[in-house]
Amino acid sequence: MYGGGYVFSDPEHQIPPDDPEKLAEFEARIDRGEKIEPQDWMPYEYRRQLIRLIEQHAHSEIMGALPEGAWITRAPGFKRKLALIAKVQDEVGHAQLLYSAAETLGKSRADMVNDLLSGKSKYSNVFNYPAKTWADVAVIGFLIDAAAIVNQVANSKGSYGPYCRALERICYEESFHLKQGYDAFVALATGTKSQRAMLQDAVNRWYRPIIHFFGPPDQESKHSKQLMRWKVKMASNDDMRNQFLDSYVPKVLELDITFPDPELRKDPQTGRWQFGDPDWAEFYRVINGDGPCNAERLAVRRLAEAQGRWIRQAIMNPQQSVTIPFA
Ligand code: COA
Repeated sequence: MYGGGYVFSDPEHQIPPDDPEKLAEFEARIDRGEKIEPQDWMPYEYRRQLIRLIEQHAHSEIMGALPEGAWITRAPGFKRKLALIAKVQDEVGHAQLLYSAAETLGKSRADMVNDLLSGKSKYSNVFNYPAKTWADVAVIGFLIDAAAIVNQVANSKGSYGPYCRALERICYEESFHLKQGYDAFVALATGTKSQRAMLQDAVNRWYRPIIHFFGPPDQESKHSKQLMRWKVKMASNDDMRNQFLDSYVPKVLELDITFPDPELRKDPQTGRWQFGDPDWAEFYRVINGDGPCNAERLAVRRLAEAQGRWIRQAIMNPQQSVTIPFA
């Protein structure tokens, strides 16, 4: 149990209706731009939504380390290896910050990790695709980190103090990641014919998952309306997607790399980007567990969890002896 008096681990728990006076005061605070802190009163639904969103975000960071982590040993050259090691380490650190922020709302880290491993919790669609070549690492480092920054800078201006503070730090680090991703992207774009072809192939494969990254179109988004009212999300899915396309499509095109979508163009009248059918059915399949790498990613996390269990036991119960499995 935590300060607010609700029990998350008990699905049968009756949720008391929110006190209307407290709710009005809470919403007035949000309207004034105040930060909500863990000890403050908050509606049950605000707490539940924040746990869902921050937890999914933390899982995404930890799963996001996997496709790039697999390239550390194969990164071309010592400097690229060093940068990639540092980046992957940062991503895992981001997960730690975010799990801590979610814990302030009353869900334990163990419960969050269990929900990830059981497939109950979602994590970002993009990490369920394979990184087949080094160019995939460049696309992830440049375009997916750029997409993440657009999303996280918006969320960092939101209403829940611990999440916003974690995001401020994360965004600083992500902007370094973006620089290393852009550097790797430019190196391939300005490299040999086969390097350019490898990069173009990677952009072709990642284009659609990146469009999906910002979530379903606004009219299909279940949570946006309430989350924007409570300033958890500071921009809608379509607005974030548009902002990303505004900033990064020109940067890719100026390197003579194209997108596999003949309908992709900016409407000069509205300032909005238009694109061909992004196949939202694929998005829903992937986020519901049926993407190309969902099973593999979860299997790796389950293995890591099992192999690290003795360390957690030793830390949590320093008086007890533990069996080191491979000693
Ligand atoms: N990958 C996986 N699932 C996604 C997704 C994505 N790219 N975009 C949306 N979804 C899921 C949502 O989690 C939600 O599922 P749920 O109801 O089972 O929890 C469902 O699709 C409906 O989407 P929507 O109502 O639009 O969700 P949302 O209002 O939470 O917005 C995000 C989606 C990603 C914009 C929002 O959750 C967010 O800003 N998250 C924090 C940042 C983050 O996680 N970034 C990814 C890693 S860097």
